[in-house]
Amino acid sequence: MQGDSRDGAILRPMSLQVRVLGSIGVLLVLALLCGGAFLSLHARAVAEVEVRTAFQGAEQSVRDTLKSDVEHTVTLRQVVASFQGQRHVRAALVNEAGKVIVASQIAALSDPAPAWFARLMAPPAMSARIDINLRKYPCVVVLTSDPRSELAEVWDHVRDAFVTVLLFCAATMAVVSLAVAYALRFFRKFQTGLVAIANGSYDARLDTQGPPEFARLARGFNDMASRLAHYAASNRRLYQQLQNLQEEERAVIARDLHDEVGPYLFAIQVDAKAVAKLEPALGASVREAAIHIQRHVADILRQLRPVSGLDFGLEAAVADLVAFWSRRYPAVRFVRELDTVSELDRRRLETAWRIIQESVSNAVRHGEPEIIRIAVRDEDGRLLVMVEDNGGGLRRDPAATSLGHSGLAGMAERVRTLNGQLEIAELAHGVRISAVLPAARELEPA
Ligand SMILES: Nc1ncnc2c1ncn2[C@@H]1O[C@H](COP(=O)(O)OP(=O)(O)OP(=O)(O)O)[C@@H](O)[C@H]1O
Ligand SMILES: [Mg+2]
Repeated sequence: MQGDSRDGAILRPMSLQVRVLGSIGVLLVLALLCGGAFLSLHARAVAEVEVRTAFQGAEQSVRDTLKSDVEHTVTLRQVVASFQGQRHVRAALVNEAGKVIVASQIAALSDPAPAWFARLMAPPAMSARIDINLRKYPCVVVLTSDPRSELAEVWDHVRDAFVTVLLFCAATMAVVSLAVAYALRFFRKFQTGLVAIANGSYDARLDTQGPPEFARLARGFNDMASRLAHYAASNRRLYQQLQNLQEEERAVIARDLHDEVGPYLFAIQVDAKAVAKLEPALGASVREAAIHIQRHVADILRQLRPVSGLDFGLEAAVADLVAFWSRRYPAVRFVRELDTVSELDRRRLETAWRIIQESVSNAVRHGEPEIIRIAVRDEDGRLLVMVEDNGGGLRRDPAATSLGHSGLAGMAERVRTLNGQLEIAELAHGVRISAVLPAARELEPA
């Protein structure tokens, strides 16, 4: 279970690689154990049959020999000697006092089975006493089974089979782990691609070589990424067009208002002067009303043309902004480092201005800084805009008046529209907002 914790220890879910290799490993070990058990049972039965058959054959042959032509001890010794070097049966000539007169040895073992294996597989011991009916030599021939040679052979086979199966298991595990590692490598790339897409870089692509299943997935991913890139680009264009349209519409209204109302207000003021000559009080009152309306209209015009301050360039607009805030926050020191930027088009100019305006406003409103640094730099045609303060850093400021906490979001939107990059960094003391806007030649047409 994910995130399950016991005694403070976090139990992580097992990785796919461990699961697959673990399951196959367990299956192979089980197969090895079952195979080993069957093989052992079979080998034990074979060893028993072998030894028993050899023993019974030997006993029969001794009995036949003794029945036919046993006449003196030399022949008996020959019978025993004939077992010398045999694999499964030992023979001994034992006198009536129980003393072994002569005994055979089984064939020497070059590679005997280990003791534990011999104990496990040993067939039941067999022995036979064959009496000799001679009064002169009251002896017996004792035959005993000896499974050591047979067990050595069985051990040899079992060990070879075990080593072969073990090698097969190791090879299987190696092949499976290679296959799993290959699949995981692909899924890791897939995951990295998805993270890149989630972060807005739609140019991430996957390699479409390799097994057809992965190739299909990679092609699907690439297709999705290129569609997203296409939609993002058309979104940006749409947003830009919307902004342009809005600005144009506002400009038209502002122009009309200015051109239609302006002359009449001026005329009213001129007329008020004439009226003042006849009726000073009435003239002054009309003039006062006209000035009041004029101020209001001027305010409306300012709102309709919010970036009109830029008509005299970014430097002048920043100077106005600094003067504006210095009047209200005289303790704050403003530092300006403004490069003269080549090819500064309207779109980048406005975006840069909006970033500076909102960042400075945020700094004085939320950060209580002592210094605010405003920098604009031209880096190879790209425009770097930075506002840094040494205030309290990003924090929720419930007391501050807000128009909906949309300042940073709006800033990010504007930068994204130009396909630029915005970074909002929390410093040890204060906040740094920095944006990189692409060079004019890299901008998509609006
Ligand atoms: N320079 C700064 N110093 C300290 N806090 C900041 C700074 N800039 C932003 N913040 C914090 O980030 C929040 C979000 O800023 P944002 O500009 O998006 O909204 P806002 O200023 O609260 O409202 P709005 O700009 O919509 O009037 C602010 O409320 C403030 O808490
Ligand atoms: Mg704000």
